[in-house]
Amino acid sequence: MRVLGIETSCDETAAAVVEDGRRALSDVVATQIELHRRWGGVVPELASRAHVVQVIPVVEEAVATAGGPAAIDAIAVTSGPGLVGALLVGVQVAKALALAWDRPLVGVNHLEGHLLAAFLGERPPAFPFLGLVVSGGHTSLYAARGFGEYELLGQTRDDAAGEAFDKGAKLLGLPYPGGVAIDRLARTGDPRAVRFPKAVVKGADLAFSFSGLKTALRHEVQRRGVPEGQALADLCASYQEAIVEALLQKAFRAARRLQLPRLVLAGGVAANGRLRAAAQERAATYEDLEVIVPPVRLCTDNAAMIAVAGTHALERGLRAGRELDADPAWRLA
Ligand code: KG4
Ligand code: ZN
Repeated sequence: MRVLGIETSCDETAAAVVEDGRRALSDVVATQIELHRRWGGVVPELASRAHVVQVIPVVEEAVATAGGPAAIDAIAVTSGPGLVGALLVGVQVAKALALAWDRPLVGVNHLEGHLLAAFLGERPPAFPFLGLVVSGGHTSLYAARGFGEYELLGQTRDDAAGEAFDKGAKLLGLPYPGGVAIDRLARTGDPRAVRFPKAVVKGADLAFSFSGLKTALRHEVQRRGVPEGQALADLCASYQEAIVEALLQKAFRAARRLQLPRLVLAGGVAANGRLRAAAQERAATYEDLEVIVPPVRLCTDNAAMIAVAGTHALERGLRAGRELDADPAWRLA
């Protein structure tokens, strides 16, 4: 089965065709990073308008590369969660194509897409696994027991990990998206240079909290100003280390407690170099716990992951009709 996936939930306009939920025949992503940079974050109205401009060429390219409309068996589209105006662009295009081509349509949860992105990698995970979804809007731990079977184990009480990176970077005068900027600077920094509070919630075992960390960074900047050179690299490395430590501490605790044999990293923050390395390092100290870190391209927003989730939803018999609508607050599990 060849499924066309369409993704417009945030600031990437993406389309991809995936065969049998495993092989991407095409994978097109048009990013809006430059558009939002001068505002320091995603501006919803600008995002919607850019999706309107980009969605048709992006879908056309993905479909043409995969062999044209006749090669497409079904259509999957992100219908939530995300920015409502942005989601609506993809949903309307998907509905129109399903009608014009007479193909089945299914709405996909963006977070399920992230969780299943690893199936496009070289080592597809077997079930059950623990999924750590870390993006600009979400920081959640899921027990994935099968396609469509996800249990939410814990999530953030306040900012998402990606927001912690992006807001932290803003305080340091670094360009959007902040996670990428901090990741790059941190490479030459000393993660033990500046002490940050642990970004965990006491008592609530599998919950995260990043707002205290951000406040600590603000105080640091208020006290000493934004550092330069090596001191800036050190500050970035220390801040990044606090985020990564909190994520991995909870993820490994959850994996052990629920006896889940593998941990899959997912979402834009899983592109972070330190998180990727630290997850592997920590896994080496555990017996019987495999860590799967998909290639960076599969971690950040893309439509191939939406096609994967759509393929399995269609296999379970799910279908959307013309009433399919954007659901900006759609919860997974
Ligand atoms: O999954 P994603 O592409 O979009 C959402 O669904 O939100 O995640 C975007 C988030 C942003 O907060 C961005 O700063 C963060 O992922 N990010 C990173 C890195 N690359 C992207 N955070 C840390 N290190 C990176 N290398
Ligand atoms: Zn995402």
